[in-house]
Amino acid sequence: MDKITIRADQGETRIDRHIYGHFAEHLGRCVYDGFWVGEESSIPNTRGIRRDIVEALRKLRIPNLRWPGGCFADEYHWMDGIGPRAERPTMVNTHWGGVTENNHFGTHEFMDLCAQLECEPYICGNVGSGTVREMQQWVEYLTCAEKSPISDLRAANGRSEPWRLSFWGVGNESWGCGGNMRPEYYADEYRRYATYCRNFGDNRLFKIACGPNSRDYRWTETLMERIPASQMHGLSLHHYSLAGSWAAKGSATEFTEGEWFRLLQQAWFMDELVQKHSEIMDRHDPEKKVALVVDEWGAWHDVEPGTNPGFLYQQNTLRDALVAGITLNIFNNHCDRVRMACIAQTVNVLQAMILTQGERMILTPSYHVFEMYQVHQDALMLPVEVACENYGHQAESIPSLSVSASRSDDGTVHLSICNAHPKDDMTVAVDLSGMSPQVMRGRILTASQINAHNTFDNMKQVKPVELAATKFAEGVAHLELPGKSVAVFEIS
Ligand code: AHR
Repeated sequence: MDKITIRADQGETRIDRHIYGHFAEHLGRCVYDGFWVGEESSIPNTRGIRRDIVEALRKLRIPNLRWPGGCFADEYHWMDGIGPRAERPTMVNTHWGGVTENNHFGTHEFMDLCAQLECEPYICGNVGSGTVREMQQWVEYLTCAEKSPISDLRAANGRSEPWRLSFWGVGNESWGCGGNMRPEYYADEYRRYATYCRNFGDNRLFKIACGPNSRDYRWTETLMERIPASQMHGLSLHHYSLAGSWAAKGSATEFTEGEWFRLLQQAWFMDELVQKHSEIMDRHDPEKKVALVVDEWGAWHDVEPGTNPGFLYQQNTLRDALVAGITLNIFNNHCDRVRMACIAQTVNVLQAMILTQGERMILTPSYHVFEMYQVHQDALMLPVEVACENYGHQAESIPSLSVSASRSDDGTVHLSICNAHPKDDMTVAVDLSGMSPQVMRGRILTASQINAHNTFDNMKQVKPVELAATKFAEGVAHLELPGKSVAVFEIS
């Protein structure tokens, strides 16, 4: 029988709530249509921002939101997005569909969105096509309380007080769309740009360097060697899970068991990435001062048929829920180094939480995983040992079970388990050491088909359901876990 052992008395590290962060780029219908409809819209909004989206995301307690990109960040000139909207210059969003960007959603609108979501802003500045001065002034505009031409400009635009802001990205994918730089060159550029991203008053920036693309370990090595921890608080990592190749990623909803397996194998690859990048970081930074910030991750499929290929609009099935559950378990289990992450992207783009159609919206299976997993935010990570059979496909295999556990301040233990097998139910013995548990209660997300998803005609096909309570006998409980499921339990 498969077995999970939780060391309930051994936790040392907190799971930073910022692991549960999100990403919103000026891409397709994420910002425009997704978050922003404008004040004149018939869709209910608060100062132009959709109320239904804010209400749904607040239920996830989203801790941070990364903006404005992505590749868009290195083409974005923030001064185009302030002042009276009708007078803001337009630009062409060359990365994403070649559409005209009217800059109606800019700094003030983003900071208002974060206030409405009650989350922390995470802004990514432009290194690729911007200047040091431009980045320096953006930080000043946002955070400086002293009188200056830049803070006067902010006041003239309706905001006399500065905002609080900590998370600051210095460029995005500088090895690719953000300037095609070599790591040696970027490391020097980072040092120069970061120097001028000032701490005004008591505002303290948490500066995040553009980190590696997936398994580019040389990038990590070079940056860790050349940038002191005093200048770099976080190093980012991007990794997307694909069931196919970049040229043919495969459909989000019509896939074989082989594609199910490959996507989940890619999600599991995050574990190796985190371990290997952490090993490099540990050599340079044994005190773990620099956080690994996985600020782009998630499943990337072919766009939905008939939609703009540059808009990256994809459906979201139970398979994507497994990607979310497995990845979040990996982050929880490596929370000593992974202290922040952002799934790509919140609304209508890639592995979205929410899809919209006019005034309607649906919550995706991935949304439900984030809703169930929020119990881990800021809780103490508990070590777990998992003894389980592998799920094999052809000559390869991955663990059937992905698990993480945590203890909240009130002593409640939470356990999240994914059963990646598409068919086989599993009986699992859950053994808690260091605690005298009585009962476990939980909710599960599963369906009869591997490609089950919510549509605008059937909005609640995939949603969590309550499980019957399971009693412990002599510290052990026996769970029946259906194949293709994500479950979160509360143990008391
Ligand atoms: O999330 C979509 C894109 O993926 C981002 O703009 C870029 O950073 C990454 O390549």
